Amino acid sequence: MKNILNQDIIFKGKKVLLRVDLNVPMKNGSITETSRIKKIIPTIKELLAKKAKVIIISHIGRPKGKFVEAMSLEPISRKLASLLNTDVSFNKKIINDIAISEINNIENGSIMMLENIRFNQGEETNDIEFSKKLSNLGDIYVNDAFSCSHRAHASVEGVTKYIPSYFGLQITQEIHALKKITSEIKKPVSLIIGGSKISTKINIINNLVKKFSNIIIVGGMANTMLKHTGSNIGKSICENDCGTLIKQILDISKKFNCKIICPIDVVVSKDFEGLGKNKDITEINDDEMILDIGPKTISLIKKIINQSNTVLWNGPAGYFENPNFQTGTKEILEIISQKSIKDKIFSVAGGGETVAAINKFKKFDSFTFVSTAGGAFLEYLEGKTLPGIKALNQNV
Ligand code: 3PG
Repeated sequence: MKNILNQDIIFKGKKVLLRVDLNVPMKNGSITETSRIKKIIPTIKELLAKKAKVIIISHIGRPKGKFVEAMSLEPISRKLASLLNTDVSFNKKIINDIAISEINNIENGSIMMLENIRFNQGEETNDIEFSKKLSNLGDIYVNDAFSCSHRAHASVEGVTKYIPSYFGLQITQEIHALKKITSEIKKPVSLIIGGSKISTKINIINNLVKKFSNIIIVGGMANTMLKHTGSNIGKSICENDCGTLIKQILDISKKFNCKIICPIDVVVSKDFEGLGKNKDITEINDDEMILDIGPKTISLIKKIINQSNTVLWNGPAGYFENPNFQTGTKEILEIISQKSIKDKIFSVAGGGETVAAINKFKKFDSFTFVSTAGGAFLEYLEGKTLPGIKALNQNV
């Protein structure tokens, strides 16, 4: 992987187009979560130390080629400036001649952030002319946005065809961590996968079942597995008509000698606000719903994690937003984090709800790696080639 450290690149005085992902959650104009901003700081510092002219490109939201005031990156440029403790000039123009002359005037070792790249029409269509125009803004292109690399957009893919292009530090670290759970695995390797719909995770299971030793299914997905294998799950959320899909998972797991584990006991309630009651999987009444995994299942998961060298976690074990149903998710986090801290396992977590749980229980630093990517993380686990990464590997 050609990144900004392992290549002999002269950055001094060069305009570096740095594509990052500042698509951060916002409420009433304020940023509510900053991990994506913090993650790009090492790359920016590296480029500044080398006296490059750093031109930051990002998107937020989906404005579809039009200016939308609420989707301006200006508040994020201010946050970045305060985290870096340095000036970040903000270029409000869409990319036109005035913007180009302003970009040409920036000084060595300084930063300019461009307005939301998706305000430009050619970005999402990966338009050739727009990609060329972008490439003319800089001398070197750096992608440090793993979480956007599944998008074949001009600032992710098109631009790399016209300018020397490299990986940033954050994306290098992310790919390195993901390789350790997809191709360069230290076995035994276990996946704990949850979330509400098995149909949205089927491609991940199909891809990983060939390499993994254990797949532990929890959350709403487990309800669907349990129902289709003959358990009464009462009024729990589940997907119907998944018989073929589940047969496919069970057949392929046998073929590749991967154990599929479902909950043996659960916490049930008559509604989402209820108190919760532990029950074996054979004891569920028609008016009850499963909202968490039970203590026997937690012990089983602990045993499997203790026997693993690598663990991947995606998707909570229950309805953790209600403290009465958070134990499963919290305990899984606790077991993984204790083993990771002692350097006994290589642990990776990722996905929107998973990161929300990790933040809620303050365990961000207890994993070997936490991916803040959503769609890109899932597509990588499905075994897909991400256009942004393919483009950089091809660029010479
Ligand atoms: C993300 O948040 O996953 C990335 O920023 C990509 O955003 P998108 O799904 O709008 O392309």
